[in-house]
Amino acid sequence: MSEDTRDIRMSKEDICAHLGDEYDRYMGAIVPPIFQNSLFTRKTINHGYSYTRVTNPTIEIAERKIAALEEGEAARCFSSGMAAISAAITHYLKKDCHVICPRAVYVPTKAFLSSYMEKFGVEVTLVAGDSVEEIEQAIRPSTTLIYLESPLSNVFTLQDLGTIAALAKSYGIATIVDNTWATPLFQNPLKHGIDLVVHSASKYLGGHSDILGGVIVGNRDVLDSIMNNERSLFGAVMDPHQAWLLIRSLRTLPVRMKQHEANAMQVAAFLEAHPRVAAVHYPGLPSHPQYELGRKLMSGYSGLLSFIPKGDRQQIQSMMKSLRFFEEGPSWGGFESLINSPGLWVNEETSRESGIPIGLLRISVGLEHADTIIGDLDRALNEM
Ligand SMILES: Cc1ncc(COP(=O)(O)O)c(C=O)c1O
Repeated sequence: MSEDTRDIRMSKEDICAHLGDEYDRYMGAIVPPIFQNSLFTRKTINHGYSYTRVTNPTIEIAERKIAALEEGEAARCFSSGMAAISAAITHYLKKDCHVICPRAVYVPTKAFLSSYMEKFGVEVTLVAGDSVEEIEQAIRPSTTLIYLESPLSNVFTLQDLGTIAALAKSYGIATIVDNTWATPLFQNPLKHGIDLVVHSASKYLGGHSDILGGVIVGNRDVLDSIMNNERSLFGAVMDPHQAWLLIRSLRTLPVRMKQHEANAMQVAAFLEAHPRVAAVHYPGLPSHPQYELGRKLMSGYSGLLSFIPKGDRQQIQSMMKSLRFFEEGPSWGGFESLINSPGLWVNEETSRESGIPIGLLRISVGLEHADTIIGDLDRALNEM
């Protein structure tokens, strides 16, 4: 982008492609360079930078892009999604406070809140998440935070972000949403009154299964405080090279998300119609119990979904192992189709506690041809 185009109103595609390029600042380089340095000397000029743990121009380009995509005032990047999540949560915690959080939230987030934070007297109430009444009933005088993840990345139930944000505000409680699934292209929780959005940039934002990263987005005063406290003091800042790869990835985010969505829609519809499938969880299917709420909150759907094949644990496991095209692993949001089996590790009791149904398989639909992905699933399910 050159000086004379900077005040043009940018679409999300334009933001992904160009925001932060500033050719005049970087000697015409079509791709801004990496500031791969820890220290900024102030002997001859004071440009406002001091040390990369505080901030760095390359990290700031990624932050400006993501803040603009989330329609937030500011963003700060971290070394991983969990670094961003733990920093955002810690920002709102007080000694002996109380937090409300969905039961099926990302497991390390739940572990951070309910096991790790226990030693500081933090108490957590786990809720299903799809009932605002249940959340209101859980509020106590000591509640400082309602932590959300919508859709939940295993069972894909949604939380009514606008209603919960208004409820929280009326009690003076802060709200955080993990928006990793929808990405800032398909959902912007800040517009619904949520205080902070967190992302794992290791998923769709990075998109190539080659970086770890995390982001927090929100109002400038909160993000400045997080930069100077939780990020600088814990020190989990994003590395400039990681930030440079993230900027590279963001350029193709809109085209990748279109393809993930188109493929996942076809895969979800195929699974729903398959006689060997008992249930499919995908917010893009009109049969999803919260389809209308999803249409209000989101403008699109990403490529992660779950389903339960008909069969016992062993049959489901061998079906999964017989897939030829899918790699097996717990991450998601990359170019490659992946399968994971959270529902094969739970029994009746842990299924109730975690909200993960027995037999649940989760697939991250990649960027391959939809026919290839569906063909592999069809063969494996028919051989069950
Ligand atoms: C929904 C969700 N949020 C956050 C994270 C944490 O991200 P990271 O692995 O970058 O720390 C993950 C990772 O799988 C996730 O699935």
